[in-house]
Amino acid sequence: MTALIRFSNVTVSAFRNLSRIDFEPAPGLNVISGDNGQGKTSLLEALYFVAVTRSFRADKLESLIQQGQKFASVRARVLDGEHGREQRATLGHKERAVLLDGKKPERLATYATRTPAVVFHPGDMELVNANAAARRKLLDRIALYLDPSSGDARLSYTRALKERKVALDVRGPSARELAPFEQLMAEHGVRFARARAEAATRLLGALAPAFQRMAQPGLQLVTKYRPGGSLDVAEFVGELSSRRLRDSRQRAASYGPQRDEIQLLIDGRSARHHASQGQQRILTLALKVAELECIRDARRAHPVLLLDDVSSELDPARTGAVYDFLRETQSQVFVTTTRPELFPTPGASKLERADWQLVSGALSEL
Ligand SMILES: Nc1ncnc2c1ncn2[C@@H]1O[C@H](COP(=O)(O)OP(=O)(O)OP(=O)(O)O)[C@@H](O)[C@H]1O
Ligand SMILES: [Mg+2]
Repeated sequence: MTALIRFSNVTVSAFRNLSRIDFEPAPGLNVISGDNGQGKTSLLEALYFVAVTRSFRADKLESLIQQGQKFASVRARVLDGEHGREQRATLGHKERAVLLDGKKPERLATYATRTPAVVFHPGDMELVNANAAARRKLLDRIALYLDPSSGDARLSYTRALKERKVALDVRGPSARELAPFEQLMAEHGVRFARARAEAATRLLGALAPAFQRMAQPGLQLVTKYRPGGSLDVAEFVGELSSRRLRDSRQRAASYGPQRDEIQLLIDGRSARHHASQGQQRILTLALKVAELECIRDARRAHPVLLLDDVSSELDPARTGAVYDFLRETQSQVFVTTTRPELFPTPGASKLERADWQLVSGALSEL
């Protein structure tokens, strides 16, 4: 059984330009329209914040607090299959506090992984049009659901990687402490690379049908996962020790999962360098749909889907294909747009869909 996760009864206070919003979203599709600068992205950001205590666009969380206010806070009732819970996340200039059913959870991570949310926002285009770092982050998000210990393995690996680099930089390729750091790198790196590889297999498996369903008919997508290291500890150690001189010259480790890559080719050419804007956008959306499906299967729950400004750059047929997906998915969806006419409602019920309008931070149901 895959549980349905839904936000209901949401209150947002002093969050960017949203002074106070109380609303009861539809369990299905929520279309939030408004002109530029009215607070659409901020509302999605508030939902993301109450789910995972982070922002998808701000490096500095402080920017979420409404100017002149001390705290931003978001409270939501979350229905999770048969169960319901109350989540509250509050952000001050120096601290972040969360409550689950009125109680402080043992760890922030316990809170932040309870309500899975997948978000698409314009910055996500870097999944397709920038270097591999963003694609690796996507794999790591999925890996965390497949194997929660992969996060610790990644941190331990990164620590050992840095220590080896310092040893190489300071004492050179014959430094004695290199061997134990390389052993640590290999042990943690293999654990972490296993979770990455599993995430990549699942992601790319789900990506192909998602792309086919939304992209222009006839476009060929070819994907390839190229691991930067090995799944075998002895081989990993051997590679690291044989590359000391080169790594010392380049001042970077040339082997290991920090060099994992996902290649995306459309019609035989690199999507990053050759695909059109609209094609890159559809591929990014397809990656998001694939992420949603991977997390759904690992977590046995339908993540909430937050889509910011999806339709710009898409032609009417592509927008229609995305919209068809949104209507059919079992996830609760929040989609923002400056052009609500792109999302027509042929006879949807109140459960299936609600239409909202944002004007200067105030939300009203249409
Ligand atoms: N901390 C803050 N305090 C008060 N207002 C803020 C804060 N941060 C951002 N704003 C303002 O909130 C408004 C809404 O921003 P938001 O990005 O949510 O708009 P939007 O509706 O998504 O617009 P667009 O269609 O252009 O993407 C902007 O005018 C912005 O300047
Ligand atoms: Mg916006």
